[in-house]
Amino acid sequence: MGDQLFRQLIIKIRDLQTLILGIESSCDETAAAVVANGQEIRSSIVASQLDVHAKYGGVVPELASREHLRAIVPVVRQALELAGASLPDLSAVAVTVGPGLVGSLLVGVTYAKALCFACKIPLIAANHVEGHIHSVLLENPEIAFPALALVVSGGHTHLFEVREIGDYRLLGKTRDDAAGEAYDKVAKLLGYGYPGGPIIDRLAAFGNPRAVKFTLAKMKGNELDFSFSGLKTAVLRWTEKNDIADEVARRKQLQNPRFEDWLAATPQRTLDLLASFQATVIQELLRRTVVSAEQLGVESVIVAGGVASNRGLRDQAASEKSLSFYFPSPGLATDNAAMIAAAAFPKFQRREFAGFELKAQASLVLA
Ligand code: KG4
Ligand code: ZN
Repeated sequence: MGDQLFRQLIIKIRDLQTLILGIESSCDETAAAVVANGQEIRSSIVASQLDVHAKYGGVVPELASREHLRAIVPVVRQALELAGASLPDLSAVAVTVGPGLVGSLLVGVTYAKALCFACKIPLIAANHVEGHIHSVLLENPEIAFPALALVVSGGHTHLFEVREIGDYRLLGKTRDDAAGEAYDKVAKLLGYGYPGGPIIDRLAAFGNPRAVKFTLAKMKGNELDFSFSGLKTAVLRWTEKNDIADEVARRKQLQNPRFEDWLAATPQRTLDLLASFQATVIQELLRRTVVSAEQLGVESVIVAGGVASNRGLRDQAASEKSLSFYFPSPGLATDNAAMIAAAAFPKFQRREFAGFELKAQASLVLA
């Protein structure tokens, strides 16, 4: 009798907390995480495929799907183990349905559906971009709405008005490359590995951001849209004028370079180019954000996605005294599944569950 009461009590306590397993496989990271009540990260495992794609200078979709297939079972198992949770403890499984590479998304979606079907757990469909916004909300529940959200990654450069959680309005987006994509393409052109953002960010600190003059994109139509392809072409023109084939070839030959090796293999003129490139990207991102914050009378800005790790962007944002910027902590800026579980929590509260007919949606939009 005592035993039975104890078991009932445990079940009651378990019901008080919502434990969501998040699964993310939209691009080149296989990730799983367990998050309690939309806020407390019990575990977050990310299996990166960087080594697989690095030599191609970008993500190869077919290879990405194959790597997800390899990683998904051990990654989910590790996330559950680290959280001290087993499948019956879960309130729901949340999975990224889009946007992303369709073959990559399919692995996560199919796996999540099978898990939910076999274990009779509710399934929740999460939007990857909304996930990025939640990577910041998860750690900063005090953010007041309406707010702005600038989602800047390898696949997205979007500026949203967040009227409240779940209610977004698209204010502007890139007309060509995403900001992270511009970093990756410039890095490839100059002989640095993939991804380009982290290495350019660190090297830029050693250059003069005013050395090379780049012009900012002028937008016809929606002035809150972004553009990075002109800047990328301007960098290409600079490389042609400065004849840098030798230094690029030297960098391509570096074996497992550490940051000091990259730095030693980068002459001052190239450090100056990188600093000027980075300064222009940051200006492009921040000027539109500041303009729309003024237009809407908004004071809080969420910055999310891989490019939100950028040191220069963080420093520059901190000098905008009229706005409060919120950035994710290091492990939460790039793709992860904790943000997916967090984004699913309000849907769980609304009992917004998905059926087993759920499909991957490569071009899913948030607003
Ligand atoms: O969010 P994420 O992991 O994946 C996508 O959804 O795309 O973002 C990856 C992107 C890559 O393009 C990478 O170069 C960029 O984020 N990135 C950075 C930095 N760290 C990662 N870009 C600029 N500065 C950084 N420190
Ligand atoms: Zn992402």
